Amino acid sequence: MTSSSSKPRILVSRAIFPEVLAQLEAVFEVEHNQADDVWSAQDLTARLQGKDGVLTTGGERISAELLQACPQLKICANMAVGFNNFDVPAMTASGVQGTNAPDVLTETTADFGFALMMATARRMAESEHFLRAGLWKRWSYDMFCGSDIHGATLGILGMGRIGQGIARRGFHGFGMKVIYHNRSRLDAGLEAACGAQYVDKATLLAQADHLVLVLPYSAESHHSIGAAELALMKPTATLTNIARGGIVDDAALAHALRSGQIAAAGLDVFEGEPQVHPDLLTVPNVVLTPHIASATLNTRRAMAQLAADNLLRFFATGEVLTPVNTLGTVRR
Ligand code: 8YV
Repeated sequence: MTSSSSKPRILVSRAIFPEVLAQLEAVFEVEHNQADDVWSAQDLTARLQGKDGVLTTGGERISAELLQACPQLKICANMAVGFNNFDVPAMTASGVQGTNAPDVLTETTADFGFALMMATARRMAESEHFLRAGLWKRWSYDMFCGSDIHGATLGILGMGRIGQGIARRGFHGFGMKVIYHNRSRLDAGLEAACGAQYVDKATLLAQADHLVLVLPYSAESHHSIGAAELALMKPTATLTNIARGGIVDDAALAHALRSGQIAAAGLDVFEGEPQVHPDLLTVPNVVLTPHIASATLNTRRAMAQLAADNLLRFFATGEVLTPVNTLGTVRR
């Protein structure tokens, strides 16, 4: 569609809060997707023709091919803290600004990670299914016995803002021993605030009673937890993944759960989501949720607002609030 308007043209690639969309429509010429259709890469590329900016969610891939096919595009504002859907080197090389939505979701996501870990350790999903199926006929001494959270060892792989939030909850709220592994060690002040001790990855896997994954997805973190890593864990341990699908080898995890190599898992993210590995759907000792760790209304609204604010700021001043890349030359 062509237009004589001199306003920047923006594509909002999925449905968002109407009040946030209205702020964009007040300033930009906006094509939205309030029908919330999921577009193919070809559809996205076609709709981005003539657009200056796009508000994406973690589901839309901004690839080198797309950037080449959309020469007018200057900024991609992700409504997610993770930005593995962006080819950041290609964006930087093309002079395209990327932004993400950090901080506003930290505590909400940490709450969920902790809740999923607890639901996993205490077998909440498995026992609820049992009850709903009408199988609860009597009490028994070992019915759905799980493992304790309080006093146990919490292991965190990936100690960014959300990992630190989970560590604080475990240390201060539940008297857990907290160990972590991360690409870089936290400074002493941050370690003390979380009560966390740095260990190597093998020690983390061997000592954690409850291991929580909170690291970003990249080629390096692909299958960080596979058969070899699962084999190092305690048979009584639980594994919780709120980070990204692909960090865990889901087929290997399903096998470890079925064979009793680890006790249970809680998964909010999956390889190839929204598809879920069929073996995970049939093992009982796993709690499965559909990528909802940041899903409270307040937080999702704040994430949409931050993505919109990045677009508004960029076209008003050339600056952004939460960049994921630093540009030498900017697309004009
Ligand atoms: C989003 C997330 O809901 O922020 C992230 O990185 O994984 C979630 O909070 C999802 O990516 C959709 O944007």
